Amino acid sequence: MRTTTMDKEIDTFLRKLSIGAIAIASLTLTILFLQTPDTCVPPEAPSKPHLRFPKSSCDFTSTRPHLPSDKKNNRLWSSRDWNTKLHSFSLIFLPIRDLGLLHNNSKILCLSAGAGHEVAALQRLGVEDVTGVELFDSPPLVSRADPHNLPFFDDAFDFAFTARFDEALFPARFAAEMERVVRAGGVCFVLVGECGAYEVREIVRLFRNSRFVSSSNVNLIGIRMTSILMRTTKSSS
Ligand SMILES: *[C@@H]1O[C@H](CO)[C@@H](O)[C@H](O)[C@H]1NC(C)=O
Repeated sequence: MRTTTMDKEIDTFLRKLSIGAIAIASLTLTILFLQTPDTCVPPEAPSKPHLRFPKSSCDFTSTRPHLPSDKKNNRLWSSRDWNTKLHSFSLIFLPIRDLGLLHNNSKILCLSAGAGHEVAALQRLGVEDVTGVELFDSPPLVSRADPHNLPFFDDAFDFAFTARFDEALFPARFAAEMERVVRAGGVCFVLVGECGAYEVREIVRLFRNSRFVSSSNVNLIGIRMTSILMRTTKSSS
């Protein structure tokens, strides 16, 4: 008997509670509906300063954050390792310039350029138009692009270089893309781990639209490598 009364009381209580909840919800909805938002930015807009919207152009300049990558790059570019490697690349490019195949106004593409040592080396030599690409970008020297599927037009460059031909997943595809973006009479220059004449011939064979110019043993920060210089002919295309 007592339990039934209690059940009834609980029942009544719950019903009152739900009526109250419905009333509160309706009231809230009405208030929300009547309220015109004073901004399109959601109230929980990110508090991160670099994601804040500028209120005016003055505000933008004053709150513009110092890009963390600037700091990182400055630290990287002043490091001894960076400069040693950069110098090492310069020594590899200088003979090509002496051959008259690399000019300050050459348009150059560096494939699989990593952090961009070769890009920086070419820029320091005086080349103005150098593009570096890699699967992972390292701004501002290297942008993101798959070397097997380059986002450039045919014949867009005078000179293409890679120090990582060995690491290409599909060497034939890599070579074909490299040649495609270089104009006829331009240069494909690749570095591979030190190898002999037979391997050099095998690599040159992958560049179906280029002719072999020369190869030499070079030293890249203490690593023995072979450089292969080719000129694009595009006769068969
Ligand atoms: C190329 O640029 C470098 C650096 O700016 C300069 O020292 C050099 O004289 C230039 N070479 C030519 C041929 O203009």
